[in-house]
Amino acid sequence: MVRQEILRLVRKAAERAFPSFDPEKVSLEHPEDIAHGDYATGIALALASQTKENPGGLAQALAAELEKEQSPLIEKAEVAGPGFVNIFLNPEALYRILLDFSQGVYGQSKKQKRVIIEYSSPNIAKRFGIGHLRSTIIGDALYRMQEFLGYETIGINHLGDWGTPHGIVLYQVQKHFLTGKEEQEVDSILSQLTVGQLEDLYVRFNTEAESNPELKEQAKAWFKKLEQGDKRARHIWEYARKVSSQEFERIYARLGVHIEHVLGESFYEDKMKDVVEKFKKKGLARKSEGALIVEFEHMPPAMLLKSDGTTTYFTRDLAAMNYRINTWKPHKLIIETGMEQNLHFRQVFEASRQIGWAENVELAHVGHGMYRLAEGKFSTRKGRTIHLEEVLNEAEERARLLVATSESEAEFTEQEQKEIAAMVGVGGVKYNDLMHNPQGDVLFDWDRVLNLKGNSGPYIQYAYARSRSILRQAELKEGSLPEASLKLAPGKVSPEEERILRLLYRFPEVVQDAVDSYAPNMLCEFLFDLAQKYNVFYNTHRVLEAATKEQKEFRLFMTASVARVLKDGLALLGIQSPERM
Ligand code: ARG
Repeated sequence: MVRQEILRLVRKAAERAFPSFDPEKVSLEHPEDIAHGDYATGIALALASQTKENPGGLAQALAAELEKEQSPLIEKAEVAGPGFVNIFLNPEALYRILLDFSQGVYGQSKKQKRVIIEYSSPNIAKRFGIGHLRSTIIGDALYRMQEFLGYETIGINHLGDWGTPHGIVLYQVQKHFLTGKEEQEVDSILSQLTVGQLEDLYVRFNTEAESNPELKEQAKAWFKKLEQGDKRARHIWEYARKVSSQEFERIYARLGVHIEHVLGESFYEDKMKDVVEKFKKKGLARKSEGALIVEFEHMPPAMLLKSDGTTTYFTRDLAAMNYRINTWKPHKLIIETGMEQNLHFRQVFEASRQIGWAENVELAHVGHGMYRLAEGKFSTRKGRTIHLEEVLNEAEERARLLVATSESEAEFTEQEQKEIAAMVGVGGVKYNDLMHNPQGDVLFDWDRVLNLKGNSGPYIQYAYARSRSILRQAELKEGSLPEASLKLAPGKVSPEEERILRLLYRFPEVVQDAVDSYAPNMLCEFLFDLAQKYNVFYNTHRVLEAATKEQKEFRLFMTASVARVLKDGLALLGIQSPERM
């Protein structure tokens, strides 16, 4: 990664120029305008504010030491402003990087760090709603980016398949479908129930319980039966879990999301007793009004056991923490959920620290905002959850129309049209989500999701398809670029090309930043920027009919690099790139 190397060089130079300065404090940024260099550092200013020396002089000393390194990466280092050092990358080096990138060589290092990431985690007996879309695709993007950077990544789906709400489904199924039925009929009755029906039963229960609160006790009793191993309760629950999992797998396949381990809340059923005992033994649990609670200094307490002795969501999360840390010994454990669970995870993490499980692991909760719907854009009945499958269907249908009207080189067969529409539709929905910082809300508006003229998935996919079309016309195959392309003398490229050269090399560092900040939107911004700059170039210059052979080769070579980075970058977001659209 270029930034790592520049950072190493600046640290070395700083050590010589300012022996008392802590090299760990060296930081780099990109100047707004590439005319001011590719990287800049303000450490001379920081140092001067401590020592009261002249920052300009300090910057001069740093720049001089940096030049002495004679790195092939650096063309020059210049003092600018009151005490910045601007660093210009060597164009020859940038060409080399382009060549590597065009072949998918990005120079990431193996970090041998192990990271667990938990994401998606929908609840059984409900259809997959857009509520779980964010966690699914933000988690998937973080997973892919971490893998790309060389982290060993473990994905977990913490399926919501246990707890009092599931008592509702058991109670309802028993009441409406199984009362008075013979034992041998049960299987065939259950196997006809759909996830949609289970969800309806759940919704109906909540409406009825508003005027009849006694029902809630019934549901609680059914969950207790389940925890105690009651045969009928178990039977219904197993069926609900199975049919829901099948539905979720169908959705995941459509989204191109694969989560390695499905370890639902029920997985911890037999592990919670031990956890509760441990908290008791260490004196970290206290009886309060019949329940067992864990207390914190600056947060409300959390419940380990309810007064009826049943476990809670919190108990299961503690068991999950213990299990994950023991089993995989990760460096880091990330949990991606809605922001409304922020307090819950602060409590879970704090309790894990209190009991001493989290000494060698960094814990992170990534909480995301909600979907807000542009008025009247969703054809849904009021007050109901929006089912993801319906959204994806509509996305593909709209994408099909979009592709049908786009100016592509050839007519598509019906099969091709379908495939492209799936990539564009699903890609548009994903990008629209990922382009926002997870913490913010996402406005859902079809006109933006599938906007070929603005910041959208299809816009970037289109830039990719166009670059591939140029390469096809030049009959250049992937990875078959002539070294000769490097011959175009540095300094001879146009400003439009230079802007691309001085952006493209940042790809791996952007991925690193996105991972470090849990912000896939940083990668979206980069890809949009790159696609835009390529479009500007394409609209200003000729590639296939360039003035000279060298120029043509260079432009093809640059086009190939841009194409590769767009495709690989979208893939890190879980978005596919059609070759034509
Ligand atoms: N199933 C939960 C929900 O839908 C999300 C689970 C989050 N993860 C966890 N470890 N509690 O709200």
